[in-house]
Amino acid sequence: MGQSQPPHNPLEFDDSQETAWVEVIQKMDEVYSDLLEREVDLENKNAELEEAHDFIDSIMEAMSDVLIVCDRVGRIVKVNRSLLDLTGYTEEDLFGRPISVLLGTRFEDRFRKMIPPTNQSSLQDYEAQLHHKNGAIVDHVSLNCSLHKTSKGIVDGLVIVGRQIGELRRAYDALNQAHSELKTTQTHLLQSEKMASIGRLVAGVAHELNNPISFLYGNVHSMQRYAEKMRTYIQTLREELPQAVRQKLDEDLKIERLLDDLPSLLDGTREGAERVSDIVNNLRRLSFREGKNKDQVDLCDVIKTAVLFASKGRASARPIDMDLAENIYIEGSANRLHQVVLNLVENAFDATSQSDNRQLSIRCFKNDQNVELHVRDFGPGLKEEDIHKVFDPFYTTKPVGEGTGLGLWISYEIVQDHNGQISVRNHPEGGAEFKVTLPAMK
Ligand SMILES: Nc1ncnc2c1ncn2[C@@H]1O[C@H](COP(=O)(O)OP(=O)(O)OP(=O)(O)O)[C@@H](O)[C@H]1O
Ligand SMILES: [Mg+2]
Repeated sequence: MGQSQPPHNPLEFDDSQETAWVEVIQKMDEVYSDLLEREVDLENKNAELEEAHDFIDSIMEAMSDVLIVCDRVGRIVKVNRSLLDLTGYTEEDLFGRPISVLLGTRFEDRFRKMIPPTNQSSLQDYEAQLHHKNGAIVDHVSLNCSLHKTSKGIVDGLVIVGRQIGELRRAYDALNQAHSELKTTQTHLLQSEKMASIGRLVAGVAHELNNPISFLYGNVHSMQRYAEKMRTYIQTLREELPQAVRQKLDEDLKIERLLDDLPSLLDGTREGAERVSDIVNNLRRLSFREGKNKDQVDLCDVIKTAVLFASKGRASARPIDMDLAENIYIEGSANRLHQVVLNLVENAFDATSQSDNRQLSIRCFKNDQNVELHVRDFGPGLKEEDIHKVFDPFYTTKPVGEGTGLGLWISYEIVQDHNGQISVRNHPEGGAEFKVTLPAMK
């Protein structure tokens, strides 16, 4: 019988197996330490990344300007705190929504133009309105838009930085407003300066004209009386003359025609003298102002009487739409204010005499410390190039003998004397509108 082999113990390695196992364990050790190294590396990188992320976030939080990042099709990807505070949205509200929710639909068009291939330039300035979550407009923002590109240079969207300019705009508007008020004041000043110097000139001329015109006027009256007597006298003498002499004289001197013409010539002269005398009287009335009248004047009464006066003698009644507030009192002269309203109403009647709409609207109301009177018609209005002339003396478009062109000038002076203002504009819906502002009586 041969010797049998001892049974094989599975837990025992032979030499070659042991070496293999040692190698495996060593390999595992290496892999493990490599893994550990990588994990540490990864953790470090993660920490760095978080730090960078926090850094960027803190910068975005600190920005007072608004920041919006959107993708190529205009969907919001990122916004900063400043924008959220201003618009009342949360980040979740905005993520993925179109940029128009913040900048309005008009911006969509702009956006399309900014994204290639339409546009290649990377920076665009634009002004837009920022919308609040509740739909209201928050403010005007000046936007600076630049293309957002990937590391490979492909356009990925838009980075928009906006600065609020509402305050700036308001300041600009206020400046503009102040400038136009200044211009109006300057125009008023120039106008009153012009009126004052014209007034002095006209008053002086009126004063000088007053004497000659009164004796011219008086003389014409006497001449009319004398002419009648002379006519009878000459007629009688003519009858006494021999026929041949009379005929000769008649032919040479045209006595018959002369005698016929004389009355109408004198009538014409008298009419002319009367007109000049009227003008001079009007002007003198201004130069010798009735002192400062301090009566309590009920303006509505004045308006009603003036309308009655103006309507008298007009062929047909005019529809008048009167809206007069109660108890409106002015300190001044009822007579002189009557002159103002009468002229405004007469002018309006004249301006609409040929119009389809012959209506007149008169409104009088209190506005703060002042009383406002508006007289508006529906006539042709005033030519824009002539509108600044209407208060000048002798400016008239009426036929000779129908208007002296003094009505509005006198009105201007009277209103000035009452510490008020008179102005005119063409109403946007047609017709002329005169506005008189006077200080209300306390
Ligand atoms: N409501 C109006 N619509 C259109 N034009 C007007 C109106 N009111 C005045 N005007 C214009 O202003 C001019 C000056 O008016 P103003 O009252 O000073 O003089 P007038 O009416 O011509 O003559 P006066 O009043 O001396 O009899 C008028 O001739 C007319 O051309
Ligand atoms: Mg007039």
